[in-house]
Amino acid sequence: MGRLDGKVAVVSGAARGQGRAHAVRLAAEGADIVAFDVCGGFTYTRAPAATVAELEDTAAQVEALDRRCLAEKVDARDLPALTALADTAMAEFGRVDVVVVNHGIWTVDRNSWELPEESWQESIDVLLTGAWKVQKAFIPKIIEGGRGGSLVFTSSVNAVVPQPGAVAYCAAKSGMQMLMKVLAHELGPHEIRVNTVNPGSVDTDIRLGGNIEKSIEYYPYVFGQGNRQLLGGTNARPPSIIADAVAWLVSDEARFVTGALIPVDAGRMVW
Ligand SMILES: NC(=O)c1ccc[n+]([C@@H]2O[C@H](COP(=O)([O-])OP(=O)(O)OC[C@H]3O[C@@H](n4cnc5c(N)ncnc54)[C@H](O)[C@@H]3O)[C@@H](O)[C@H]2O)c1
Repeated sequence: MGRLDGKVAVVSGAARGQGRAHAVRLAAEGADIVAFDVCGGFTYTRAPAATVAELEDTAAQVEALDRRCLAEKVDARDLPALTALADTAMAEFGRVDVVVVNHGIWTVDRNSWELPEESWQESIDVLLTGAWKVQKAFIPKIIEGGRGGSLVFTSSVNAVVPQPGAVAYCAAKSGMQMLMKVLAHELGPHEIRVNTVNPGSVDTDIRLGGNIEKSIEYYPYVFGQGNRQLLGGTNARPPSIIADAVAWLVSDEARFVTGALIPVDAGRMVW
């Protein structure tokens, strides 16, 4: 018996990386999955774009666990598309219990004042406004069910620890913390829990395309000696480590946890 038997979980940014790990892990716990991803490029990021083939692979991995998967190419910045997806999910599965707002981009620049305005706007649109839009589309479906539920935002160590060269990312993730806390208040009466998981370095494609190299080039005193953390092992951890935390957070084992920031960062935040 899984911890999420009979439930339906939505995961944004599910084509690869942590989003795929969450989709597959929550399916292994018994949930049917709504997986979506923009599967496209951005103007101001360096990492390669996720693909529709990757999203289909996520769906195949969910289905291999005997769970159903509704997988669609949807942009978290597109509220009408999100609302349509939420309606399709209800038509297909009849309920929504869990939402993992995981999608994200990361870009590194020399400093805040030379950052192009459009780059700032792209990151804020995706990371902060996009997170707000995902909850706007799906929370009414959880409320409608009247069974309570759980919402997890994938934030970052950078919600708390500044990363020079990544002002929009840090500001958006920091803003996400207050988005989470306000929602935790508003949704408490509906028995819907709202939390953030705050990863340290995770080994995913978001790090590719030169972001790490640029971080070291621009700010060697911060990045030159690798990541600062308290536990040993490799610096970047596999996405399954974050999925372990998310699987717990959305389960009944965490039924008394809401409004919380959960670091999964090998102690990076207290360095
Ligand atoms: N990898 C790390 O070191 C790390 C550390 C802390 C936090 N995070 C956060 O973890 C989350 C997952 O990232 P990841 O590490 O798996 O990287 P990733 O690049 O492998 O996955 C991110 C996914 O989000 C999708 N996406 C981006 N914008 C989207 C949008 N507007 N609509 C729908 N999908 C969109 C991308 O296409 C991609 O598939 C992100 O929010 C990221 O900020 C990552």
